[in-house]
Amino acid sequence: MYCTRKVTKDIAWVGGNDRRLSVFEGVYKCPAGVSYNSYLINDEKTVLMDTVDKAVSTVFFENIEHELAGRSLDYVVVQHMEPDHSATLAELVLRHPETTIVCNQKLAAMIKQYFDFDLDSRCMLVKEGDMLETGRHKLTFVMAPMVHWPEVMVTFDLNEGLLFSADAFGTFGALDGALFADEVDFMNGYIDEARRYYTNIVGKYGTQVQALLKKASALKINMILPLHGFVWRANIGEIVDKYVHWATYEPEEKAVVIAYASVYGNTANAADILACRLNEKGVKTYMYDVSMTSADHVISAAFKASHLVFASTTYNAGIFVKMEDLLHDLAAHNIQNRKVAFIENGSWAATSGKLMHGIMENCKNITFLEKTVSLKSSVKPEKNADIEALADEIALDFVKPVRFSASNPNVEAKIDPVAFNKLSYGLFVLTARDGDSLNGCIINTAQMLTDSPKRITIAVNKANLTHDMIMKTGEFNVSALTESVPMAIFEHFGFQSGRNAHKFLGFEDFEIASNGIPYITAHTNAFFSAKVVAAADNGTHTLFTAEVTEAEVLSGEESVTYAYYFAHIKPKKNKPAEEKRGWVCKTCGYFHEGDELPADFVCPICKHGPEDFERVEPAPKPTGHKWVCEICGFEYEGETLPADFACPLCKHGPEDFKQLY
Ligand code: FEO
Repeated sequence: MYCTRKVTKDIAWVGGNDRRLSVFEGVYKCPAGVSYNSYLINDEKTVLMDTVDKAVSTVFFENIEHELAGRSLDYVVVQHMEPDHSATLAELVLRHPETTIVCNQKLAAMIKQYFDFDLDSRCMLVKEGDMLETGRHKLTFVMAPMVHWPEVMVTFDLNEGLLFSADAFGTFGALDGALFADEVDFMNGYIDEARRYYTNIVGKYGTQVQALLKKASALKINMILPLHGFVWRANIGEIVDKYVHWATYEPEEKAVVIAYASVYGNTANAADILACRLNEKGVKTYMYDVSMTSADHVISAAFKASHLVFASTTYNAGIFVKMEDLLHDLAAHNIQNRKVAFIENGSWAATSGKLMHGIMENCKNITFLEKTVSLKSSVKPEKNADIEALADEIALDFVKPVRFSASNPNVEAKIDPVAFNKLSYGLFVLTARDGDSLNGCIINTAQMLTDSPKRITIAVNKANLTHDMIMKTGEFNVSALTESVPMAIFEHFGFQSGRNAHKFLGFEDFEIASNGIPYITAHTNAFFSAKVVAAADNGTHTLFTAEVTEAEVLSGEESVTYAYYFAHIKPKKNKPAEEKRGWVCKTCGYFHEGDELPADFVCPICKHGPEDFERVEPAPKPTGHKWVCEICGFEYEGETLPADFACPLCKHGPEDFKQLY
């Protein structure tokens, strides 16, 4: 009996589900089965988009006949010749000899390799950008070599925005009645199988997938119809975002995959201890015993996480066989951009660490952590310390969120904000980098926390883009400003947001530190590079504790203090003019002109909110007159300046006084 589902008014899913498949492609276990999708377009012309695996051929042909309802089949588009999508092509031609096979040159060659029917008499060859108009639908063909075989193409319906994506955007798992991804909780229940499918089937070809994504980004896509798994008609950005991560080999999350191979449990013990220490430091871990979990699951997890730890016993003077297979498999799938560490074990000669390193060093952009834990048989107390040290080294890359309890609102009334001006502060340019984006802001709170290890703290307002970049990347630089710093630096980094302005475009006084983040080279006397080890949420600000990774003295100038800034740098124009109405910041003196102070106003200098501003009214016009002694500055107020007046300070007479009003 046929079993179809409508995709749109004139398109039906006519594929099938196989829940008895033991291993997909002879390798990958599929406990939830797999679907082989095929779509029938019932337009003025009828078009079948690919065929299916032999395993579901019976229902597939019933589906086609049901949806055709007696019509002939005008076209079958072959997008991919792997037999899970093409094995029933020959039988289709027997059943529908009237059909024209639409394919590209490479597909045609493969069709002839697999089948003996007469292709040339019923073949329509297409190339990139060619069109097939079927009535309401206008199909154009986009070549997608190596996604997943070299002959692959995808098809885009220009009229309805439908992307028939071949293997791309596919998922392991049969369709249990739900055809559309939005009919299930995809991101919780199915994303892991989508990742396992992608990374193992297409993961090696990230560059080619990126090329396809680039082509797809130029199209207005309303629906994605892959050859396995769910159809995407909503939240398409979610799955595209995952594909961008996977294709560029960027981790989806900061976490550690610990994969271990252990014959008698001692290496497993070390892996467990490491996982405990990491979680105590706020680091998320995923653990796999490679003897029990097949490599495809570990590969999938490795594409997800930022850090990989491989722990293996030494076996026949080599790596334990399951671990060796896994590492070769990972390298074959092009894993890149990861931080990697090793635990080796060996009762007489532990060599597995060096050998594992040798396999992974062939992968691109792998950063090896300094600490390799080397065990002899079981974990002894001193090795426990080594594992702790490895956990510390890994945790340096992670921001551990700490949340303090809310402050007591009743305490506010006793607080004089001016008292905070009596604390001494410096002024600093805080810089961060996220990919190609550079940004910086002004802060007044940077100080040394501990000497060993060398740690500093900084407090950063959450409204700043720099704050978000540090939260994401866990790295920053601090440049200490000096007394020669002009107001322009504060205006440049403090009075505008990186969300609206590129602060390093046209700004030349900076260099790039070893961590890739800029530091300021003019009006500064030192810079520090640091990695965040803890981030404490303090309401408006986050307090970052960070380990210093680089520090350099840039000049012998004095550091500027907050007090010096007020006395010598702060612009007069920001002082409330006598004739102006506005609001003055009680903390730093910044003047905001205007009748209203917005509820979400943030002081551009000290980042305090409206509660720290007070109203300033224009000063009343003086009723008398004022004179100033041009010799010593003494000021005299009155109706007139007496003719015999003598300055009480310098004793000069009226001829040396100038009338102010
Ligand atoms: Fe689903 Fe590459 O075949």
